[in-house]
Amino acid sequence: MAAKNSFYLTTPIYYVNDAPHIGHAYTTVAGDVLTRWHRAKGEQVWFLTGTDEHGEKVMNAAEKNGVTPQAWCDRLVEEAWKPVWKDLNIANDDFIRTTEVRHESRVQRFLQGLKDAGHIYLAKYEGPYCIGCEEFKLPGDLEEGKCKVHGRPVETLSEENWFFKLSAFVPALIERYTKHPESCEPTSARNEVLSFLHGEVKDLSISRSTFNWGIPVPWDTEQVIYVWFDALLNYATAIGLGDEPGSEGAKKFEEFWPANVHLVGKDILRFHAVIWPAMLMAAGLPVPEKIFAHGWLLVGGEKMSKSKLTGIAPKDITDHFGVDAFRYYFLRAIPFGTDGSFSWEDMGARYTSELANDFGNLASRITAMIEKYSGGTVPAVAHDAGLAKALTDAVEVADKSMLALDFQGGIGAIMEFCKKVNGYVTEKEPWAIAKDESRTVELNEVLYNTIESVRALAVLLHPVMPATCEILWQSIGADTAIGAIADQRISGISTWGQLPEGSAVTKGAVLFPRLEEAK
Ligand code: ME8
Ligand code: MG
Repeated sequence: MAAKNSFYLTTPIYYVNDAPHIGHAYTTVAGDVLTRWHRAKGEQVWFLTGTDEHGEKVMNAAEKNGVTPQAWCDRLVEEAWKPVWKDLNIANDDFIRTTEVRHESRVQRFLQGLKDAGHIYLAKYEGPYCIGCEEFKLPGDLEEGKCKVHGRPVETLSEENWFFKLSAFVPALIERYTKHPESCEPTSARNEVLSFLHGEVKDLSISRSTFNWGIPVPWDTEQVIYVWFDALLNYATAIGLGDEPGSEGAKKFEEFWPANVHLVGKDILRFHAVIWPAMLMAAGLPVPEKIFAHGWLLVGGEKMSKSKLTGIAPKDITDHFGVDAFRYYFLRAIPFGTDGSFSWEDMGARYTSELANDFGNLASRITAMIEKYSGGTVPAVAHDAGLAKALTDAVEVADKSMLALDFQGGIGAIMEFCKKVNGYVTEKEPWAIAKDESRTVELNEVLYNTIESVRALAVLLHPVMPATCEILWQSIGADTAIGAIADQRISGISTWGQLPEGSAVTKGAVLFPRLEEAK
């Protein structure tokens, strides 16, 4: 078992047949927010993302562009994928590419182990294959000979392949999802998996012989390993799967395996909830604690996709709204697990009401008032029971929700507190109190209670909007007075009175500027 204080989260490793769109960013940002939250709980966090580079889909993309698959992958990873994650402020601890030696050698060793243990056999595969899905299809997956997901004709394969005895693990998988419902979420995803498992599950062809862009099967180099079998293993190869006891890899694996959460879109749920745990069971390894399948971002009612060229690049949105509003919007607006459509209007409306008005304005109002009425330093520590209680409640709900991957609920609770603080300022009217010199004590109390609330909001929103909250943290003098924002703990947020008297406050740049004319 992984150490209690560790938290290992993965995103899918994305195909490099094209550049990322906001669907990929949706998953990766969610993973980033959740891992930042767990870091703020003081846990030992490992956050992995990466790229899936083998298989026919990527090979065909390279061919179309007239370069070798390796050159194509190198270019896309360096020029498209990694820069997008950097722009979106993704703090992944590692980035795995399936063409790396560390991955390939561990995959081969793993497969050899399954073969030696009797889980692999040679047989003839005959049937349909969709390159878009990189998946062997069942008759029910097709409509007029076309894949239902990609709407494209499938290939008919007839090859001698190596098979994995997937069907042998069906009873154990059913037991797992029945006894541990939390290991596959949301409920709709678990039900889908269970109904699939209760149907006829066939053994899985895990090699291909008609092309060579893949990892060679160690004992039969005429064949390459099926891309999904290779790809799923990334979650374990990246942290040292199968390494010598006592080695760095073995220690890392010991510390972080099993993964706490595999975050995926619902399109790839079955691979993760059926094939992957069966592979692990075959190897005698613990299965992941949770597969969470979120919904799709839709365009015109259909899944946004690279192959249908309906992808919106994250930059199209961040150029207009900024990176932090992008990180905020999708998690705030769409219940995690449900499909959602992107609209400029809805994003513009939330940006203005929640980020610019509720949060940004509160920050600029209080820093301006402290400059104006308190010489730019925090007045004496005061206490407001109503605000302190609201904060305690908000932290509790936010923490519970975030840990349950209910981002909408978590962010919602934080923004409710923000509204409450705004209401407090409006009600107290510090600008009116300031006109009366006999009421300085009262004025200072209002100023203190407000800035102390903003101190808490900065920490609470930091996982979601790290750059903005960092700026805010600096501008309220907390960096010098309290310490780095990244060192603040969720468990300490609601302790009232942390921002000390005398901290230097400066009215910084506007956090969420008014939008230019909408596109
Ligand atoms: O499936 N809405 O890679 P992929 C929400 N290489 N999320 C979306 C989305 C959308 N419209 N489109 C993509 C693969 N995603 C495999 C994974 S893992 C061992 C191998 C996100 O490039 C979502 O997370 O097709 C989805 O599951 C993933 O990108 C698929 O990325
Ligand atoms: Mg896909």
